[in-house]
Amino acid sequence: MTAKFAKPNTDATPIDVVSFDTLDEYLSKLPPENRTWLSTNKFSAKLGQTVLLPNNDGNLARVVTGWGDAKARARGRMFMASVALTLPKGDYTIASGLGVDELIEAAQAWLLAGYVFDRYKQQPGAKAQLVAPDGVDADRLETIAAGDFLTRDLINTPTSDMGPDALEKAFCDLGKRFNAKCSVIRGDALLKQNFPMIHAVGRASDQEPRLLDMVWGNPNDPKVTLVGKGVCFDTGGLNIKPGNSMALMKKDMGGSATVLGLAQMIMALKIPVRLRVLVPAVENSISAGAFRPSDVLTSRKGLTVEVNNTDAEGRLVLADALALADEETPDLLICNATLTGAARVALGPDVPPFFTDDDVLATEIMQASAQTFDPLWRLPFWNPYEASIEPDIADLDNAPKGGFGGAITAALFLRRFVENTNSFVHLDLYGWTPSPKPGRSLGGACQSARAMLQVIEQRFAK
Ligand code: BES
Ligand code: MN
Ligand code: ZN
Repeated sequence: MTAKFAKPNTDATPIDVVSFDTLDEYLSKLPPENRTWLSTNKFSAKLGQTVLLPNNDGNLARVVTGWGDAKARARGRMFMASVALTLPKGDYTIASGLGVDELIEAAQAWLLAGYVFDRYKQQPGAKAQLVAPDGVDADRLETIAAGDFLTRDLINTPTSDMGPDALEKAFCDLGKRFNAKCSVIRGDALLKQNFPMIHAVGRASDQEPRLLDMVWGNPNDPKVTLVGKGVCFDTGGLNIKPGNSMALMKKDMGGSATVLGLAQMIMALKIPVRLRVLVPAVENSISAGAFRPSDVLTSRKGLTVEVNNTDAEGRLVLADALALADEETPDLLICNATLTGAARVALGPDVPPFFTDDDVLATEIMQASAQTFDPLWRLPFWNPYEASIEPDIADLDNAPKGGFGGAITAALFLRRFVENTNSFVHLDLYGWTPSPKPGRSLGGACQSARAMLQVIEQRFAK
């Protein structure tokens, strides 16, 4: 598996990218034998239609790939990823047909297409490699792809190899590579240091619950804090999930996988921020010691929470981590979590909703999302729904009755734990690609990291 471009070389096969608009002109300039070959193959420049042009010896000379029109491309960006997967082994260059923005998109897409998960079985890797087009920042695109791959690897690894112990190791390994300071609060130390909800959710597992904390960068730079849900497996707890709902719950640490991928991008690109990464790492398991429906927990912040469903565990562990993050009032606080099924019902698996009260930040996120082809959509912190998270006997209810607006009420719950920070955004991710898309393999998905990297760079670049 590689997130790398090919070294520049003169043997690389040129690719011409041809849209409906440019087809006639393109054909008119081709040698007649190539024109005939394209016509034999019924090449119409339809998006993704790819024809190999041979030379006189029958070897591959050029590739012509269709680029359709804007309407077709709007239905699925990063299209060059699909082309990359169909080409024979070898090196390629994009020779014509794309402007600089499209070249960046195509080059990023090509790298993202190269992901394979081969931890348990050899898989055929991507065969075709691209020489980085002129005018694109090759290192940056490679760094982004490597972060994306880290996220996918962490999510795809099943809980048998990615429980709290292994997630801690992955977290600390990343920190060490970039000389970040890592600390871990584990097991009963969570109670002593006042993270009661992380402990309550994770205490039924054989692998102790823990809070992972990484700090990197110059203490005087703007503070960016990433918090990621690290539920290594979500059985639902005593409110056990039915089998088909539990099937994918190895991915319930998708938020933590995403913040690690993003953190790797930030540190590798040396973005001038003081980065902090917080991950509550737990398994929502079932045992005699498990927390129960109707238990009332007192959170780090002091707010009491009635547990009306042990399957709404993500907001509990995140609440204590967010409270800690908020204690130092970061300039930007980003929470990533596979938090609710309701977010999928609202927007489907590929468009994660985000919640923020900072309208400027929301605009920045929407712009970055469009520019990086990393879909995100704003949903409201709908204040009138606050009443629904307030039960009779405690400050907060983790699972409001009825369940309508579940992504919003979960987001409102988290917001109660962030008081000081002005720029807070929570992203409710799916973390999974149920049917493969260009640049997104079936399985673990890195959602929002590319867009949020761009937001962070633009906010804080010197
Ligand atoms: N991890 C799940 C949410 C989830 C489920 C995300 C499926 C993506 C796909 C979370 O812990 C959960 O179980 N949430 C419940 C909350 C409910 C009990 C209030 C949900 O969304 O059903
Ligand atoms: Mn759950
Ligand atoms: Zn969960």
